[in-house]
Amino acid sequence: MTEIERKEMSKENNPKEIMDRKIEHLRIALEYDVQHSKNYFRDMKLIHHPVPDIDFDEIDLTMKFYDKIISAPICISAITGGHPVSKEINEILAKAAEEENIIMSVGSQRAGIEDSTLLDSFEITRKVAPTIPIIGNIGIGQVSSEDFKVENFKRCIEMVNADVMAIHLNILHELVQDKGDISYKLFRRNFKNIRETYDIPIIAKEVGTGFNQDLALNLDKLGFDGFDIGGAGGTSFAAIESKRKNFNNQKFTRDPAETFREWGIPTPISIIYVRKVSQKIIIATGGLRTGIDIAKSLALGADVGGFAYNFLQSAWKDRKANTISNTVKEIKTLKNELRSCLWLLNLDNITKLKNNNDKFVILGEFYRWLNQ
Ligand SMILES: Cc1cc2nc3c(=O)[nH]c(=O)nc-3n(C[C@H](O)[C@H](O)[C@H](O)COP(=O)(O)O)c2cc1C
Repeated sequence: MTEIERKEMSKENNPKEIMDRKIEHLRIALEYDVQHSKNYFRDMKLIHHPVPDIDFDEIDLTMKFYDKIISAPICISAITGGHPVSKEINEILAKAAEEENIIMSVGSQRAGIEDSTLLDSFEITRKVAPTIPIIGNIGIGQVSSEDFKVENFKRCIEMVNADVMAIHLNILHELVQDKGDISYKLFRRNFKNIRETYDIPIIAKEVGTGFNQDLALNLDKLGFDGFDIGGAGGTSFAAIESKRKNFNNQKFTRDPAETFREWGIPTPISIIYVRKVSQKIIIATGGLRTGIDIAKSLALGADVGGFAYNFLQSAWKDRKANTISNTVKEIKTLKNELRSCLWLLNLDNITKLKNNNDKFVILGEFYRWLNQ
């Protein structure tokens, strides 16, 4: 990233703190290594089948995601919104998602609720992607707030004409950042109110620390319609926060954001935990980097693979070149890799791969975690 770009992304004349923070997240995720050091997908192997009985081109990757048919189980995960740069990124991502008919998510819509001048950075997604499933996004901090208004949830739905809403559970991130929200006692009460008021499917979404089994069961019973695993193994929000250098060394000897950068339940483990207790849609996010990781996620019981880091990188390149071709190419690459996996496993559609214990082995730390 050039110095000019850096300055452009953190313009000082920008009045909104949230807006600055969101743009700093983008900059840091692109510029620094903020990935978890251990990715548990590497401890999983799919079992090769040397004589396929099917033709490569006949393999069917399509699936139903709530009410819509998509071309492959791929989701552009929540990344951004609430800034002119975010608008450009969202436009690129949404256009590419529409062209390839996959799922598109927007980042937290809090900025759009609090400042109407920022609405267009979210609205652009539906404008350029009229047909695909779009997932809206709001945080546990907003939903748990004492003055939470259920109509704000409706405003998020309307902002992008969302097919599905995600409530992101980013408690570690809030904990380690300066001035984060850390009171969630009203979450269940306010969620019930939302659930009783609106019919739209609602997903519980983690952002890099994953779900344990008990909470997944609890949220399933509470009325959530799906899960976005957001497990550990990919982008670490604590690591991002540690690079923002907000640590107050007057109070503590160590920066909690640095200490907790590896915290979390690994994505593949969390997929297994959630699938054990819920039959609802699971998006596997957190450290997926190729179509092989989608195949592994499906074999463990997920329905869709979600990617933030890959698409942040491709959209950033596209923004510079004024194109969407890098993002479209990334989607095509993921599809080709997933299709290749199915062919090498001798399976002609993704349903046959789902929850299929015969198609993989688990090694190393992944195995030890599961069998402790
Ligand atoms: C720069 C950046 C901003 C993000 N903003 C949001 C957000 O607003 N809401 C949300 O639910 N998740 C957000 N995420 C989390 C991602 O959706 C995803 O769960 C996480 O990055 C793990 O996926 P990855 O390893 O592919 O990056 C963000 C991720 C990044 C990298």
